[in-house]
Amino acid sequence: MPGRVEGKVAFITGAGRGQGRSHAVRLAQEGADIIAIDICHDVQGALPMATPEDLAETVKLVEAQDRRIVATQADVRDYDGLKAAVDDGVAQLGRLDIVLANAGIASLGGPVQDMDPRNWQNTIDINLSGLWNTTRAAIPHLIAGGQGGAIVLTSSVGGMHAMPNMSHYVSAKHGVVGLMRSLAVELGQHHIRVNSVHPTNVNTPMFMNEGTYRLFRPDLENPTADDVAPVAAQFMHVLPHGWVEPEDVSNAILFLVSDEARYITGVPLPVDLGALLK
Ligand SMILES: NC(=O)c1ccc[n+]([C@@H]2O[C@H](COP(=O)([O-])OP(=O)(O)OC[C@H]3O[C@@H](n4cnc5c(N)ncnc54)[C@H](O)[C@@H]3O)[C@@H](O)[C@H]2O)c1
Repeated sequence: MPGRVEGKVAFITGAGRGQGRSHAVRLAQEGADIIAIDICHDVQGALPMATPEDLAETVKLVEAQDRRIVATQADVRDYDGLKAAVDDGVAQLGRLDIVLANAGIASLGGPVQDMDPRNWQNTIDINLSGLWNTTRAAIPHLIAGGQGGAIVLTSSVGGMHAMPNMSHYVSAKHGVVGLMRSLAVELGQHHIRVNSVHPTNVNTPMFMNEGTYRLFRPDLENPTADDVAPVAAQFMHVLPHGWVEPEDVSNAILFLVSDEARYITGVPLPVDLGALLK
């Protein structure tokens, strides 16, 4: 049976680990070849990023699905590097159909008046301008292909409601919705659909780390993920779980980029255990 994105090529940012890797593997399982980029070095003020070894592991996992992958170290803040990576991927794989602008960083910034301005700027540069760069590097290939396409921008529940001490992240993720809607109206004439996904906590290094555990459980000396789960479930979610798995987001994205969603564009789709109901 053909896969749901058989014969298509997907460009994915932040594919070295976490959700980006999961999207690469899930789309490869359904027949897509992958153009992957990741920064593969750390960013000031943010948690440790993926490593070159992580990106190499993504390559292995995609190839294990008998699909091709072109992987490059690139920073979404660097338009020229990003464009070179996409151009090279398209030259090798022959086309481009799908763009997943997923790369992002998170940090606890503190109240607006106390936030380190570099922290604000890095977050806006990567989590908002980085998605703008990603799409403007890719769109000419989608249009030139003449067969439409699908773009999914990764936002967050923080792109649809407020979170204290996270104004940098929340502002960038709200901005992603504006970018998504702008792209949707501009690209519809080319049969290119643009949507965004809004995950709650996801089981990736961005959420699963000591800093987050301490935030949720300041009452414990050495909190673990198991200590966090019931608290996150109770205070954040309607469905009684602390977080979703990367595959849950990948499956939502797979639907959005497949022909099953052929008339869906301009939609912010929560994958959030009901977080936005609270
Ligand atoms: N984990 C969560 O709880 C959660 C919740 C909602 C939304 N998100 C969003 O999901 C997306 C994926 O995050 P994740 O959960 O997989 O976290 P993650 O930290 O595991 O993965 C992020 C990836 O992006 C890469 N990256 C960061 N900055 C980059 C840059 N400038 N250029 C290229 N690559 C860069 C990192 O190296 C890493 O591989 C992010 O946009 C994040 O904001 C995450």
